[in-house]
Amino acid sequence: MLKVTLKVHRFTPESDKAPHFETHEVEVGERASILDALFAAQRAAAPDLAFRFSCRVGMCGSCAMVVNGRERLTCSTLVKTVGTELRIEPLRNVPVVRDLATDLKPFFDAYQRSLPHLVPREGLKDFEVIPEESATGKSMDHQPQCIDCGSCYSACSLVTLHPRYLGPMALHRALTLVLDPRDAAREQRMAMVAGEAGAFRCHTLGNCRDVCPRGISPTASIERLKRISVGDQFRGFLSMIFGPAKKQ
Ligand code: SF4
Ligand code: FES
Repeated sequence: MLKVTLKVHRFTPESDKAPHFETHEVEVGERASILDALFAAQRAAAPDLAFRFSCRVGMCGSCAMVVNGRERLTCSTLVKTVGTELRIEPLRNVPVVRDLATDLKPFFDAYQRSLPHLVPREGLKDFEVIPEESATGKSMDHQPQCIDCGSCYSACSLVTLHPRYLGPMALHRALTLVLDPRDAAREQRMAMVAGEAGAFRCHTLGNCRDVCPRGISPTASIERLKRISVGDQFRGFLSMIFGPAKKQ
């Protein structure tokens, strides 16, 4: 068994003037997750402690919190991999609903602004498949699937500085669709990418890449978007001087 000291963020906006930390000593099994330790504290002494979870197997993204200063999925992070003294806080850059539960609206609003759905181009057949081994298939984005946990948004200091900045996950999604030849909204997406809330806000600090539980690198996606945008601008400049490129 492990003896764990939890310092847990408590805050009820309706009644508390400011957040505070509450300390709980709990005993959990060797293979307990951080979420298990929170349940132990809730069962023993804090039945009103609020936190979010759903699948408990690292698939839904709802249990992301900041543990010892770093965003983690609490259901799939073992206590023993972090330590027996845990400071648990809610995600950053989003409002706290209560204790460790946050309102992810700003994160999903940014996602909506990035046009996260495929806009089918004209003449597209149902289930048009792009073979992975084709040149087009190879040039598409093949990173793991995002689970919308919000960790990257929480870890991004540019989101903290510029709340209108789309942030890592929305831009990562934009890249996936920009590279998809079945999508008809490339121009709209690239205008958003090149805009004041887009990719050029990113300072390539890599915090989003470091915390993503799926191993996605939004940093790499944003860098690729910047290169595509610069290429587009250069081609636009050339066509202003020499006229539009002739189709082969
Ligand atoms: S990119 Fe990674 S960290 Fe960001 S929301 Fe998706 S899974 Fe979470
Ligand atoms: S509860 Fe679903 S990812 Fe942790």
